[in-house]
Amino acid sequence: MAEELTEYSGPATMEKITSLAKRRGFVFQSSEIYGGQNGAWDYGPLGIELKNRIAANWWKEMTQLHDEIVGLDAAILMHPRTWEASGHVENFTDPLVDCKKCKTRFRADMIPEENLAKKTCPECGGELTDTRKFNLMFRTHIGPTEDNAGLIYLRPETAQGIYVNYKNIIQSNRMKIPFGIAQIGKAFRNEIVTKNFIFRTCEFEQMEMQYFVKPGTDVDWFNEWKKRRWAYYEKLGVKMDHLRWHQHGPDELAHYAKDAYDIQYLFPMGWRELEGVHNRTNYDLTRHTEFSGKDLQYIDQDNNNDRYIPFIIETSAGLTRTLLMLICDAYDEEKVVQEKNADSSEGTVGGNEDSADWRTVLRFHPLVAPVTVAVLPLMKKDGLAELAQDIRGELKEDYATDYDQAGAIGRRYRRQDEAGTPFCVTVDYQSKEDGTVTLRYRDSMEQIRIPRAELADKIRKEIKGYKRK
Ligand code: GAP
Repeated sequence: MAEELTEYSGPATMEKITSLAKRRGFVFQSSEIYGGQNGAWDYGPLGIELKNRIAANWWKEMTQLHDEIVGLDAAILMHPRTWEASGHVENFTDPLVDCKKCKTRFRADMIPEENLAKKTCPECGGELTDTRKFNLMFRTHIGPTEDNAGLIYLRPETAQGIYVNYKNIIQSNRMKIPFGIAQIGKAFRNEIVTKNFIFRTCEFEQMEMQYFVKPGTDVDWFNEWKKRRWAYYEKLGVKMDHLRWHQHGPDELAHYAKDAYDIQYLFPMGWRELEGVHNRTNYDLTRHTEFSGKDLQYIDQDNNNDRYIPFIIETSAGLTRTLLMLICDAYDEEKVVQEKNADSSEGTVGGNEDSADWRTVLRFHPLVAPVTVAVLPLMKKDGLAELAQDIRGELKEDYATDYDQAGAIGRRYRRQDEAGTPFCVTVDYQSKEDGTVTLRYRDSMEQIRIPRAELADKIRKEIKGYKRK
């Protein structure tokens, strides 16, 4: 087995990623004109395309490819008893300390133990307050008065919407154990520390799947879902040596979990959690039974009407965190040597320093790339722009497309590289004569000439067979 990487050594830094994300319209600071809102971010034109495609890819993986998993979209606002039953009111807390001098606020589990023991601020050396528990749930009120009767929470995980609906779904869709329910949606946490761009935010999105199994089969299913989720990232073309498992120790386990593993990714700032696979036992459904008074047992009609509260295996990935991971993973800088007298060609990789230029390229899997194909006329004049628009019109039925006619062709390729567009189609004078176009590949910068009529099929085949080099 290959040795585990200890630190990130790629070309990305969080500064470069944040700046590229803003420059190219992936992610903007929320309410930027007012100085920004901590813990909240806006997804621009490329960002929302990327996010939607990640979500669609996950949804397909979980529902379309699994006959026994169905979807749900539950409300963010849930009955407040939900959160008492789930244990979040009591247990969903972080330990908090403040510096009395510089007023910086820290999560006590994130500062060096030495500072905690001596109660000294890691920033300024000032005195720290005692550690106190801080509940991460956002509270608000429903109705016109702000009293406790109207107290309501913004959900801190999407999972509970699934648990409270599990009987509805069994009845409406005749589900038999084992089966799963998948959901993508917003979650909110009043995070004390929100650094590293969109890694940890107060408003974020989760992609969660809850798998209901017979007690006693939970350990096998837990291991099975660990395997499936690992294979998913391989399919997405993620650098597998940048992923590892981390098992939760007794002091890390959430109040509901019997066993939990994180898939961690090696971000530029180090190894961090990307997704969790949890054995939640029958904790949640047992608690909801107690708090709601409703019988949430499963009746196993194929086995003498046996009754039991199912165990739940959860796979829980952050959608916005996956987006950050995929940008970091895709990010590359590459030296390109300009070729003499090249017209529409743009150079080769590596080679002579003197004539070298650098390109920044996002090597997204074409299935998640925000734009799949960009159509570029070599010139605006002589009918090339119209022909290129016509080709784009045809391709947009099947693919997310872009069109760019501004500036030198090499520069336009660079712009598409930075957006992660896997294919460019260039339309030139020859296209007018013989109906062929140039198909240019983002990763290798290779260019081939093919008939326009074959484009859509060729791209489809390339996407299906895509392998990251
Ligand atoms: N339902 C289980 C659950 O919520 P979690 O480990 O607290 O488990 C699951 O969260 C995933 O949600 C994490 O692995 C991460 O990808 C994402 N996530 C959690 N808190 C987040 C935050 N503040 N900002 C962005 N993503 C977050």
